[in-house]
Amino acid sequence: MIRSLRRMVEPGRRVATCLLVAAVLMLWFGCDAERRKSDAELGLNPQQAAGRRVYDRHCDQCHEPYSTSGRRGPGLKGVFKKQYLSVSGLPANDERVSEIVRLGRSKMPAFNQTLDQQQIQDLLVYMHTL
Ligand code: HEC
Repeated sequence: MIRSLRRMVEPGRRVATCLLVAAVLMLWFGCDAERRKSDAELGLNPQQAAGRRVYDRHCDQCHEPYSTSGRRGPGLKGVFKKQYLSVSGLPANDERVSEIVRLGRSKMPAFNQTLDQQQIQDLLVYMHTL
């Protein structure tokens, strides 16, 4: 009697355990999506990774790199994938973007005193991966 009862309860419990494990895994991977990806996970080469460090230090506070949603400035996801920059409407190319970085624009500060030519070059190479 008890044994047959147990036989009925056991599978239910196993299903419950499975559901619990699935829920925990989904939560885990859900959080994983928010986690900062490493350079290797993004497939960045050394120059792109160097540019990412410049970006994190000087640009990230105002520009979201992997989203188009704005902080103080517009998100820069896919910045070079479109023909024109979203806010200024300037052509999205290396010349215009490095000019914006060097000279600044309205509320964006200029970086010509902070970043050298090599750092700006690395930065642009990284921004092409966004
Ligand atoms: C203090 C905040 C701030 C920082 C730091 C900053 N920006 Fe900006 N950025 C802005 C704002 C605000 C704008 C919009 C300017 C405008 O109104 O045209 C902008 C505009 C831009 C644009 C043109 C976007 C468009 O759609 O026209 C680019 C590209 C850009 N920033 C790149 C960078 C890069 C690269 C860095 C790091 C070297 C950086 N910014 C650092 C605030 C910032």
